Amino acid sequence: MKLLPICTWLLCLLLFIVCFGSECGTPRRSVRSKRDLVRIREARSTFPGPCATRLPRGKRSLPGIDRRSPRLSQAGESSPGRRRAVYFTGRGDQLRLKPNAEVPRGNFTLEMWIKPEGGQRSPAVIGGLYDKCFYASSDRGWLLGIKAVSDQANRDPRFFFSLKTDRAHKLTTITSNAPYTPNQWSHVAVTYNGFFMKLYVNGAQVAVSRDQSGEIFSPLTKKCKVLMIGGNALNHNYRGTMEHLSLWHRALSQREIIRYMGHSLSQFGDLSQLVIHENFESMSRRWLTVKDGSFPRLEYSDRSLVAVLSDAELKPPPCGQTVCDNVEVITNYYQLWSFRKPKTVRYRVINVYDDDGQWPTITDHQINLQHQHLNNAFRAYNISWERTVHNVYNSSLRNRLILANCDISKVGDEECDPECNHTLTGFDAGYCKRQTARCPEYKQGNGVCDPECNWDNFYYDHGDCCNPNITDVTKTCFNPASPYR
Ligand SMILES: *[C@@H]1O[C@H](CO)[C@@H](O)[C@H](O)[C@H]1NC(C)=O
Ligand SMILES: *[C@@H]1O[C@H](CO)[C@@H](O)[C@H](O)[C@H]1NC(C)=O
Ligand SMILES: *[C@@H]1O[C@H](CO)[C@@H](O)[C@H](O)[C@H]1NC(C)=O
Ligand SMILES: *[C@@H]1O[C@H](CO)[C@@H](O)[C@H](O)[C@H]1NC(C)=O
Ligand SMILES: *[C@@H]1O[C@H](CO)[C@@H](O)[C@H](O)[C@H]1NC(C)=O
Repeated sequence: MKLLPICTWLLCLLLFIVCFGSECGTPRRSVRSKRDLVRIREARSTFPGPCATRLPRGKRSLPGIDRRSPRLSQAGESSPGRRRAVYFTGRGDQLRLKPNAEVPRGNFTLEMWIKPEGGQRSPAVIGGLYDKCFYASSDRGWLLGIKAVSDQANRDPRFFFSLKTDRAHKLTTITSNAPYTPNQWSHVAVTYNGFFMKLYVNGAQVAVSRDQSGEIFSPLTKKCKVLMIGGNALNHNYRGTMEHLSLWHRALSQREIIRYMGHSLSQFGDLSQLVIHENFESMSRRWLTVKDGSFPRLEYSDRSLVAVLSDAELKPPPCGQTVCDNVEVITNYYQLWSFRKPKTVRYRVINVYDDDGQWPTITDHQINLQHQHLNNAFRAYNISWERTVHNVYNSSLRNRLILANCDISKVGDEECDPECNHTLTGFDAGYCKRQTARCPEYKQGNGVCDPECNWDNFYYDHGDCCNPNITDVTKTCFNPASPYR
């Protein structure tokens, strides 16, 4: 008897929900498992489109633990394993990249972890490239920063990414979907690939534009370009902490950004396009201060590495804050069917067979029947189902039992988990079944697998029921700890 925790009864359905053009999305569950999150991310990166940028508005992440950043001692000795961060006061401690570094002219990615303080001025430039020769056009280049998007002073401050190539007439600015959360670590990344500029917050793509194209500047004006972090030459300075900054010569994909977010770069392969990876160990190696300015203060980072996943958790927006919460709007939406555009839900059936192609988990007939029923049931709502079938030929896998939601750790955990109540788990190793037959002591561990003793209570007949020399363990071994399970 074997268990796999992941899949549903009999077949695994991987559902990828694809939205086509509907303003009001499907309701989201408020709590998502990590696995759900991974799926959502994968779905998002598999099907870029409306869903990628239409996350629910409002609060997107958990409130962070607001501990003061531990300061480095004056001597600045490094202690291994602790990550450095810099704290910008917003007053003359912005940094310029030394001219010998090769700033990307075309495709690029800038990514970093930041913990901005509240009450930033608008705009506050976290990092950017400007042109020191063309004062007439101060917006040449690009900026990543925070700015208010509402007309009312300083309301609704969000991350933004703006870009204007030397040849463009106008600046393009894209902003994130939700206000930034002060005093909380966020991962921000901006990419440009000659066609698209994209802004990512905590791995989610939150804005995209294709209004700019081509190289950002020509080789001739290279000497004029200055990359700055923590502010700009106009003193639109950023106040807060920053760590782990990287600049790349190419536009990373969303998958890569998510991958790099949680880890140290050394674990990854292709770093040939990496221009800078700044861990702020020795700032003066790469950076210059501005005139009369000073280096920002060094700190130890208080960003918890574990927080990354939970930080990306999607919360439904608070009530009454989106157009979908407006009763009149939603009533119209339900009453006027023409507003409901057709939607397609893609799903995949993974059907496991024996090695020789025999003994499928479910038959084609069952798959077709289910497909028909799904389509019939949802047709009235303009939702159709699109199916793909993936066949796996693996006897070892086929012999395992797959129970929805029954994680192997739940079997025999001293309480009855109804989702694990199945003959092939021995009714959750005995905990889901009133034990009628007694297990006399002489039967325990007597070299025979006695069903009445095959419970967790009796150590699965003292091992008899998980001993391949005694019994057919694929049928009798329920012990989660046994290799023969
Ligand atoms: C930039 O990226 C685009 C799209 O990925 C690619 O077609 C182009 O060749 C890249 N340009 C350079 C200079 O690498
Ligand atoms: C389904 O969508 C079509 C096209 O958008 C629309 O005309 C039709 O009324 C919708 N039908 C239902 C049942 O929602
Ligand atoms: C078959 O499934 C088992 C898990 O039950 C796995 O370890 C093994 O690699 C699979 N074999 C093949 C050929 O994929
Ligand atoms: C477990 O399943 C058995 C057989 O299906 C049933 O008799 C028993 O009541 C179930 N136990 C619980 C606690 O659900
Ligand atoms: C089964 O028998 C073999 C050979 O007699 C022995 O090596 C092995 O340890 C036995 N397995 C168990 C679980 O007792």
